[in-house]
Amino acid sequence: MMFDKSAQSGRDFPALPNDLHVAVIMDGNGRWASNRGWPRLVGHRKGAEQVRKLVEACPELGIRYLTLYAFSTENWKRSTEEVLGLMSLFARYIRREAGRMKREGVRLRFIGDRTRLDDNLQVLIQWIETETAGNDRVHLSVALNYGGRDEITRATRAMAQDVVAGKLSGDDICDAVLSRYLDTRDLPDPDLVVRTSGETRVSNFLLWQAAYAEYVFIPTLWPDFTPVTMQGILKDFAQRERRFGGVSA
Ligand code: IPE
Ligand code: IPE
Ligand code: MG
Repeated sequence: MMFDKSAQSGRDFPALPNDLHVAVIMDGNGRWASNRGWPRLVGHRKGAEQVRKLVEACPELGIRYLTLYAFSTENWKRSTEEVLGLMSLFARYIRREAGRMKREGVRLRFIGDRTRLDDNLQVLIQWIETETAGNDRVHLSVALNYGGRDEITRATRAMAQDVVAGKLSGDDICDAVLSRYLDTRDLPDPDLVVRTSGETRVSNFLLWQAAYAEYVFIPTLWPDFTPVTMQGILKDFAQRERRFGGVSA
């Protein structure tokens, strides 16, 4: 076993929500590689390995929903080499992990504007989403060409179009209706957002959904992040009192 099982037994570990949703800003791949004198892409490759290990550990950690920030709407600013390298890494990940995800009950979804992605990657995304649509053990969502502002903008545009088409009345627009126009319409709001690499900013991730999420910022670079690291974070999270604007019981 990779890490101690007290997470499950409840000893020394207050109960976590049943449908726990953890979202992660996986940052620091480039620095991890540069620190070793290696190309940034080596860090991204090592980061993808850590993703596989974390997904595998989710049932044991008590994580039902895991949402990972893989590529932001701002990441196109990087060199062509890095962008293309990342895109081929995403495609390879889908192809390589498909069998394992099906066996292990992982449902994979993508959030973000996929229309800007290469056609082959769009086909792969559609394929893996369909292949794993019947799974319910772990809900893995990968944020690809994702930006919170872009997502809210696209949702607003779609709502406006529905109003013009007479499918939606402007008066009916509320928090719940807007949520149904977001890419995350099938997901609960995240309980916890983790960012690695020591940066303490949100970088356009889940701006609407994380309104009441707990945040954890840790110095660990993403390629060094393991299920044990996550277990420590969950212990911290479990101690927190979430009030959602109310007062202590
Ligand atoms: C996060 O690592 C992965 C992506 C943004 C794709 P970075 O590539 O941002 O690594 P640093 O922050 O430069 O170290
Ligand atoms: C956020 O990391 C995006 C992902 C982890 C995919 P960045 O490295 O792009 O964020 P900034 O530029 O440091 O804010
Ligand atoms: Mg970064």
